[in-house]
Amino acid sequence: MDAVITEDLTRRFGRFTAVDRVSFRIPEGSVFGFLGPNGSGKTTTIRMLTGILEPSEGSARVLGMDLVSEREKVRESLGYMSQKFSLYDDLTVQENLDFYAGLFSLPPARSRERIAEIVEMAGLLGRTNDLAGNLSGGLRQRLALGCAILHRPRLLFLDEPTSGVDPRSRRRFWDIIYGLAAEGTTVMVTTHFMDEAEHCDTIGFMFESRLIACGTPEELKALLPGTAWEIPSEDPIGLLERLKGTQGVMESSVHGRSVHLLAETESAVVFESLGGRRIVPTLEDVFVHLVMNEREARAE
Ligand SMILES: Nc1ncnc2c1ncn2[C@@H]1O[C@H](COP(=O)(O)OP(=O)(O)O)[C@@H](O)[C@H]1O
Ligand SMILES: [Mg+2]
Repeated sequence: MDAVITEDLTRRFGRFTAVDRVSFRIPEGSVFGFLGPNGSGKTTTIRMLTGILEPSEGSARVLGMDLVSEREKVRESLGYMSQKFSLYDDLTVQENLDFYAGLFSLPPARSRERIAEIVEMAGLLGRTNDLAGNLSGGLRQRLALGCAILHRPRLLFLDEPTSGVDPRSRRRFWDIIYGLAAEGTTVMVTTHFMDEAEHCDTIGFMFESRLIACGTPEELKALLPGTAWEIPSEDPIGLLERLKGTQGVMESSVHGRSVHLLAETESAVVFESLGGRRIVPTLEDVFVHLVMNEREARAE
């Protein structure tokens, strides 16, 4: 079964269309990575799927229920960690958890049991009397996640949960997400970090209010034409310029201290002589390619 099905989901704010006819499906128990630049419509989509915002057009079914007519029932089965973690900084870890347990109307015994599990999962043992405001970024993030899943939602929305968090905490956080998915929770997560998205089961790319591609990481990479190359350089921008007219180069872009190329497979020798190596394209390469295509298509 699919946990989320949207069809032409659309949201306008006045004359501006923030989400434009977006259709996708998320199989139950899978992790869906929702990627795209700032302002592309990710949060607005999630706000519709959580029932906070009404769609202007189109439809969405969540866990087999209709978002509009069965709104209250849907909400009980959802967890939502918003872009601004909704923690109370002047309350302790325990008080935050108690507050959310109350909000979800968990019976006292169940609440105690569940909070103990969450404290363990989040690595908050021995910290339950600390003020939430005094925790490190990584711990705050895991506490916010814990609060969002106290009621064991079947479907979890995480909106940029890892921004502003150090790499080690990010990895730990993803381990928790995979653990939840392995237990059957469906997770929809937005992120700016393309490396995080590599491990998602399915990825949707948003660009200027539209979903421009959707598929497994492998499927998305297969959309790229030619062969992908990486050429390290002290002066990647200069190299990019020089490569522009080179025979066989289809697309090129700067990635840190190197240039990434999509090239016709026959022209390998040239790139080898420049110290380049063939690479498995990253999702970032895919995104650059798709955005270029999309820009051309819209300009026509
Ligand atoms: N309540 C609102 N009123 C007017 N415009 C909005 C509102 N919410 C979002 N937008 C606009 O919709 C666009 C998409 O925003 P958002 O969904 O937050 O993007 P993302 O999460 O991908 O950064 C942005 O241009 C934003 O300014
Ligand atoms: Mg957002």
